[in-house]
Amino acid sequence: MAASSAHHSTSTSMVRLSLFLLVSIASSSFSPATAQSPPSSCASHTFSSNQLFASCAALPRLGTTLHYNYTAAANTVSVAFRAPSKGAGWVAWGLNPNGTGMVSTQAVVAFRHSNGSLVAYPTLLDSYAPSMAPADAAELGFPVSNVAAEYVKNGKEMVVYATVALPGKGSKFNHVWQQGSSVTNDVPAAHPTTGDNILSTGTIDFSK
Ligand SMILES: *[C@@H]1O[C@H](CO)[C@@H](O)[C@H](O)[C@H]1NC(C)=O
Ligand SMILES: *[C@@H]1O[C@H](CO)[C@@H](O)[C@H](O)[C@H]1NC(C)=O
Ligand SMILES: *[C@@H]1O[C@H](CO)[C@@H](O)[C@H](O)[C@H]1NC(C)=O
Repeated sequence: MAASSAHHSTSTSMVRLSLFLLVSIASSSFSPATAQSPPSSCASHTFSSNQLFASCAALPRLGTTLHYNYTAAANTVSVAFRAPSKGAGWVAWGLNPNGTGMVSTQAVVAFRHSNGSLVAYPTLLDSYAPSMAPADAAELGFPVSNVAAEYVKNGKEMVVYATVALPGKGSKFNHVWQQGSSVTNDVPAAHPTTGDNILSTGTIDFSK
């Protein structure tokens, strides 16, 4: 993402992720014949550097949207997860290859570091009290690259980007998403354990 605005010059992607230079998807599986108009609540969104995503879904909880480009031939998806930013909070999105809830999800998380940078990295949700520490390439169950984050809408929303090598065949996956309102010592603190914050899970079909 080019530094096209002041907001966005703080975008950070963890260098270690450049191990997976994978994908910048040159050709895409987007087929005009099956194109549908995405829901208006997410279709109107534009990203920095005029990045375009072929599909989007308004997620049913937390006022969030997921924008994505799915490449079946490569079994990858590039996503932009957009969520309201709550004060000095954090946002996260991930896929759970082994279940439907939080535990065993591999996520990408973004928040404002105390040094002023917006940081984003993959992390493993291996329990209901995960460390939220960055996971290095060797720890990842499936490769994640191009992780970055930015504020949009004058800081009212945060976006986290990632390219994911999908952990399984087909286009349907269990995903979870989350938003928390505080970061302590540069570690995202626990999210509320009531209401929408524990209902923010679902199944997504990236071919749709
Ligand atoms: C997504 O796919 C579209 C259509 O093929 C392409 O123009 C766009 O650059 C892709 N965006 C990203 C972020 O990969
Ligand atoms: C998912 O299950 C597989 C097979 O049992 C295991 O190897 C893998 O570590 C699990 N992944 C996570 C993130 O728990
Ligand atoms: C802030 O810390 C993060 C995480 O260690 C690092 O990636 C980033 O480069 C730092 N930013 C500045 C401005 O020092």
